[in-house]
Amino acid sequence: MWIFGYGSIVWKPDFRYINRMEGHVKGFIRRFWQLSEDHRGLPGKPGRVVTLISTGNPLDCVYGAAYEISNEDEASVRHVLDVREKDGYTIIETSFYPNDNDQKERNCYTYMAQQDNPFWGGDAPIDQIAKQIAEAHGPSGSNREYLFKLADAIRLLTSVNDEHLFTLDQLVKEILTKDEQNIISI
Ligand code: BEZ
Repeated sequence: MWIFGYGSIVWKPDFRYINRMEGHVKGFIRRFWQLSEDHRGLPGKPGRVVTLISTGNPLDCVYGAAYEISNEDEASVRHVLDVREKDGYTIIETSFYPNDNDQKERNCYTYMAQQDNPFWGGDAPIDQIAKQIAEAHGPSGSNREYLFKLADAIRLLTSVNDEHLFTLDQLVKEILTKDEQNIISI
């Protein structure tokens, strides 16, 4: 079984795996449209985490990492990942295309938030999403750390521009720099 990660799983897989491959899935875009009240935010002050949005356009690609899970570990890893279903994600099956051209495409499982889940945040002006991420903290750490680590990890595995992700990375860094300057000038 292969699991494709495009969020924290890219830089912090919290399960055992036997093989890791970098690459992409097609027909989706990555958006910070899912709210997080239990990992990167708190109830009443949610953070934002990524989900896949289906576009139906095969030219749209989301880069990340796929992990091969041994038969022996499949049930326990599915259990770890199914906990994420409680956060509003649903498991889907799609094709994964490895960066390594010597490797063929393969079937993978991944997670996608549905618009009717209770933690759906949806689209919002990009400045507003950046502000929300800059301000949110939760039990798994700050929302900004999640964003920065994801942006760094994606930059390392592709030169393809993920505009939504990299714009947010830049906007949140600008907000934090302004905040720091304000503190220094007080
Ligand atoms: C991820 O890290 O790739 C991920 C995990 C759970 C839901 C969606 C994405």
